Amino acid sequence: MPRNIYIIFGPPGSGKGTQAEMISEKFKIPTISVGNLLRHEEEGKSKLAKQLRKILSAGKLVKEKTVDHILSARLKKKDVKKGFVLDGYPRNVSQFHHLFKEINKKKDDKIIFIFIKTSDKEIKERLGKRRACECGETYHLKFKKPKKAGRCDACGKKLYIREDDKPEIIKNRIKLYHESTQPIIALAKKTGHEIIVDGDKDIKEVSKEMFKKIKEISSPLRKGRSGGV
Ligand code: AP5
Repeated sequence: MPRNIYIIFGPPGSGKGTQAEMISEKFKIPTISVGNLLRHEEEGKSKLAKQLRKILSAGKLVKEKTVDHILSARLKKKDVKKGFVLDGYPRNVSQFHHLFKEINKKKDDKIIFIFIKTSDKEIKERLGKRRACECGETYHLKFKKPKKAGRCDACGKKLYIREDDKPEIIKNRIKLYHESTQPIIALAKKTGHEIIVDGDKDIKEVSKEMFKKIKEISSPLRKGRSGGV
């Protein structure tokens, strides 16, 4: 079965998770959020959980071996057969190659890279007012308010502020994005379809632009790219 694989890039707070959920709902495919998988892993009392808590709260990248293993295990699940949305992976060139080894791209598979371009000013505003739920939902005190203050609309649990949403940690995460993740952009262009959207706009405007561009590349008049890594 040919797969549509959407890979979302963007600096922290650009709205990757928000837009990934919209693609997932529309095309009925799962979202794989590596950040959420790691936050789930850090909950226990194991040595790994302790290490993860330290790395995530500092806004640093988790070691390759750990994160690659988590991704590989998730890609073995049956629900990814028709395709999936990937949020937060790959974050560097090494992860990019690991991903494409795991995907084992077939001729009819479509790889769609979505870049959400967002200014540093907007990122700081968003992350400062983000509220998260352990079920994976995210809210914003101004732009995406929960129906009941402090509670998740989806599961009713208490919302919390992520450790890495503190101003000094946000600065580190933005720096890391520019240093490690941006070099992937050139590789992505050679590998699949590329969509760039203006992430500074509001949530609906961003998704409108994104779905319009997804539709354009899905048009039968447009030739697909069959490049591989
Ligand atoms: P991860 O959870 O992936 O964090 P991130 O990439 O920094 O991205 P965020 O989740 O902060 O933001 P987002 O772009 O998803 O924005 P969101 O939709 O939430 O990773 C966390 C950590 O895990 C990393 O720092 C690292 O330590 C580790 N990690 C993860 N992947 C790894 C990997 N591959 N290798 C190694 N380590 C890894 O939106 C943000 C807020 O803004 C929300 O409140 C939302 O409601 C609001 N919002 C969204 N869009 C808009 C809009 N257009 N207008 C107004 N508000 C908006």
